[in-house]
Amino acid sequence: MDEREFKQVSRAVWEAMAPGWVARHAYFEEIARPVTVRMLERLDPSPGEEILDLAAGTGIVGFAAAAMVGPEGKVIVSDFAEAMVAAATRRAGELRLDNVECRVLDAEALDLPDGCVDGVACRWGYMLMADPGAALRETRRVLREGGRVACAVFSGPERNPWAALPARILVECGHMPPPKPGDPGILALADRDRLRGLFTTAGFGGPVIEEVDFVVRADDVDDYWNLLSHAAGAIAMVLNRLDADERDRVRTRIAGAIGRFSRDGRIAIPAQSLVVSAS
Ligand SMILES: C[S@@+](CC[C@H](N)C(=O)[O-])C[C@H]1O[C@@H](n2cnc3c(N)ncnc32)[C@H](O)[C@@H]1O
Repeated sequence: MDEREFKQVSRAVWEAMAPGWVARHAYFEEIARPVTVRMLERLDPSPGEEILDLAAGTGIVGFAAAAMVGPEGKVIVSDFAEAMVAAATRRAGELRLDNVECRVLDAEALDLPDGCVDGVACRWGYMLMADPGAALRETRRVLREGGRVACAVFSGPERNPWAALPARILVECGHMPPPKPGDPGILALADRDRLRGLFTTAGFGGPVIEEVDFVVRADDVDDYWNLLSHAAGAIAMVLNRLDADERDRVRTRIAGAIGRFSRDGRIAIPAQSLVVSAS
């Protein structure tokens, strides 16, 4: 699949994921709060500044930044999936965030002028893109002199069993090819040397990489299965294509694999993001 085809498929995946992310807006706000907090500490938006949230989904990080830039500032909440932007627009209206503009934007080819924002946030976006280097060059281009970026990607499979276990089972069952190095995906930017290289090649100086732990919680196996099938991007698409018997078999294997993270029926699986900041 070339990059253009990948983008079409990826956009369709995320359009399909929008209802799941809308339903779980408060959930993702809550479980990943440590990630958002660290990103915003590093980005440090000040009153009056303009911040761009890229691959923003339903707008969680951008809305938090909006409170920091205040009424004189502005936040552009953007995503390439129209359904995500529509959801963010609705939510910004409900929250009466007059300083937020929601826009459809492709992070790899931003329809924005050079040097138009003071900061860029991107939580769990760059690793999903076919050309994260292009997205980081675009990020650099739209930043003013001295502008900052703070993003989150996921670290390796050993720190993220919530995603690594189901992916491994889908590969073992022949439903997904094993990921090739460099392919986009949930865990695709875990390699710190690659991350650093992408930032420096895009023109950023000395990126700082920090680990932030959090916990993926589910009420029970059904709830975890719902999370995987309605929010987990490419994994969700594979699960939803299985026939009923095969889905049951895969579900049983995944339930067995995550059993060790279950206490009194509730599930708490470790997760870790890398927060990268640079200017
Ligand atoms: C895992 S979700 C994260 C959403 C949000 N940042 C959050 O943390 O709640 C990934 C988002 O990246 C978006 N995305 C993927 N590739 C993109 C691209 N090339 N340009 C803009 N958005 C993209 C998807 O549409 C999806 O909303």
